[in-house]
Amino acid sequence: MSSLVPTPDHAPRILSGMQPTDGSLHLGNYIGALRQWVALQDDFDALYFVADLHSLTVNPDPAALRERTRRTAAQYLAAGVDPQRSVLFVQSHVAEHAQLGWLLQCQTGFGEASRMTQFKDKSAKQGSEGTTVGLFAYPMLMAADILLYDSALVPVGEDQRQHLELTRNLAQRLNSRFGEGTVVVPEGHIVKAGAKIQDLQNPSSKMSKSTSGGKGVVWLMEDPKRAVKAIKGAVTDADETYGVRYDPEAKPGISNLLTIFSAVTGREVHDIAAEYDGRGYGYLKADLADAVAAFLTPFQERAATYLSDPAQLDAVLADGAERARAIAAPVLQRVSERFGLLPATGR
Ligand code: TRP
Repeated sequence: MSSLVPTPDHAPRILSGMQPTDGSLHLGNYIGALRQWVALQDDFDALYFVADLHSLTVNPDPAALRERTRRTAAQYLAAGVDPQRSVLFVQSHVAEHAQLGWLLQCQTGFGEASRMTQFKDKSAKQGSEGTTVGLFAYPMLMAADILLYDSALVPVGEDQRQHLELTRNLAQRLNSRFGEGTVVVPEGHIVKAGAKIQDLQNPSSKMSKSTSGGKGVVWLMEDPKRAVKAIKGAVTDADETYGVRYDPEAKPGISNLLTIFSAVTGREVHDIAAEYDGRGYGYLKADLADAVAAFLTPFQERAATYLSDPAQLDAVLADGAERARAIAAPVLQRVSERFGLLPATGR
């Protein structure tokens, strides 16, 4: 029996990542994920990565991908991910992700993978010739990301819940086929309602480029003037009970503005509501627009500092990759041996 079993010689590990799909993350990514990642660094051994391999499933332009990968990392840093305390890296720099991904693909049923709703939605849009096998294998790569670090906790949005369930199923399957201790079964950490923000144009859907053609999105890296416009143009509620209060069912638009206000200022939602109740929505929007601009400006300055020195940024990422690999390599070796792969000697 291998001596390489998980050892609790560290704080519980937490891991998460985002794809470098656009030149900028948006306020929903910040409030729903990044801000939580930063807070979780205090109590966990955190690993945060840029999921560049995942974004290959949609065939990005190579130069754009390179640029977006750096920009995504710079935004993690600008938000407060601390590369001293956390391991910050780029997924493709740790080859073990793809290797463990293959092992997991060989443990996943075709039917099981076919039931992933995100795959069904995206492949339906792209047609079977336009859908890559990579898109089909995406959830098993995500499971590999998680299992490769013996992660205890995985903060993800609601849209990733099914992928996390698959990861847990695969982990349990590995432990029952190859013996307890093959991998750690992770727990999800689904973000709370107050941490979720909705699209400004369509407050019943999450903030996203695909909702309302991006008109309801506040991009972290865009000119704050555009954010001000997006907020002033936000859809408010056409209910009879005119007023500012936090009630996501009856007043989704106003409640969303209050959530954003609270997130960028640190003030309590109910205090903000009390201050604006009885005044026109325009006052709330104008002050929120100022608060968002006041948040974006220093955020962008910090991101620009990292981006102005790509060599230094790459060095930070190289250091992170090395620390990530130091965790990933023995885990992959442990799992590979359990699968019966002949240990490679002489390396
Ligand atoms: N699939 C996730 C998303 O699109 C990104 C991701 C990839 C991820 N691997 C992960 C998130 C591992 C958490 C853990 O949002």
